[in-house]
Amino acid sequence: MIILVKVNISTIKAARKMEAQLKGRDMLSLLDYTSEEIDYLLETALVMKKDTKAGKCPPMLPGKTLGMIFEKHSTRTRISFEVGMVQLGGHPMYMNANDLQIGRGESVYDTANVLSGYLDGIMIRANSHEMVKELAKHASIPVINGLTDMFHPCQALADLLTILEVKGSVEGQKIAYVGDGNNVAHSLAIGAAHIGMHVAIATPQGYEFNQDLFGKVKKIAESTGGSIMQTYDPVEAVKNADVVYTDVWASMGQEEEAAARLEAFKKYQINDTLVANAKKDYMFLHCLPAHREEEVATSVIDGPNSYVFQQAENRLHAQKAVLAALL
Ligand code: CP
Ligand code: NVA
Repeated sequence: MIILVKVNISTIKAARKMEAQLKGRDMLSLLDYTSEEIDYLLETALVMKKDTKAGKCPPMLPGKTLGMIFEKHSTRTRISFEVGMVQLGGHPMYMNANDLQIGRGESVYDTANVLSGYLDGIMIRANSHEMVKELAKHASIPVINGLTDMFHPCQALADLLTILEVKGSVEGQKIAYVGDGNNVAHSLAIGAAHIGMHVAIATPQGYEFNQDLFGKVKKIAESTGGSIMQTYDPVEAVKNADVVYTDVWASMGQEEEAAARLEAFKKYQINDTLVANAKKDYMFLHCLPAHREEEVATSVIDGPNSYVFQQAENRLHAQKAVLAALL
């Protein structure tokens, strides 16, 4: 087993303590988790991935039902959570928010209380992070954020898992995020700071990383030996990077801004010229779905340094660790 952790979880006692500390918790943002808890989830995910591939992942959630509410489209999140629950011996239940009474005005309070009586956990992809916070406040079961306007924590866990698999130790390594200062950027930065990486973020003016969050990530990075910086210069961010990451320029719900964003972001494309500034063995990551020849050149995303499909697969393994720990 690859040892990633700073906390010694090789002893049963430490593992039991961690299990007790995670059971019943929500996962709205990685800000709510300690670096040790994130290490534990990643290590669990690695073990579960190995076991799943060997055909012996234990069904840890027999008889448990996860409700999955979607206000937006999804391929990876929906399928990986659904398959993950099945592999753990539980039952996933897909719900389009428009088909629920919440889609025609039933309150979040009533929905949270009613669903808590049927389900063992809720995974929700929603427009508003505030709404998900309210749902979690009133639900008596764990609520897992499957993407909001602010965060995408499950994506970040899969990203970290992929980086650790490919790079082994990440101590002192640099991750460059180039593009929109969005939900994916926010969670990636929090997660990378938790595992002690040096985070560099390059966005155009007007599309910056959330500044309040920047301060919080800086504090996490200071406690783990990592760092975070932001710039408007993509070359500065990518210089000597071990990992280069981007996401779409217009997120779901921003379709009307797409043309303006295409113009604002055009110098921020991840292409061969830009990645020539990164380390030779840099790895390229993208949460997907991607727009080839917009935020990333086809030669990069389909090139030898790209790990995007391993990253997408890792959604399954990272989330199984989350589900087994929280539910
Ligand atoms: N990366 C991600 O969350 O993909 P989906 O939108 O397909 O779920
Ligand atoms: N930032 C993107 C991520 C999609 C997985 C969005 O919110 O649409």
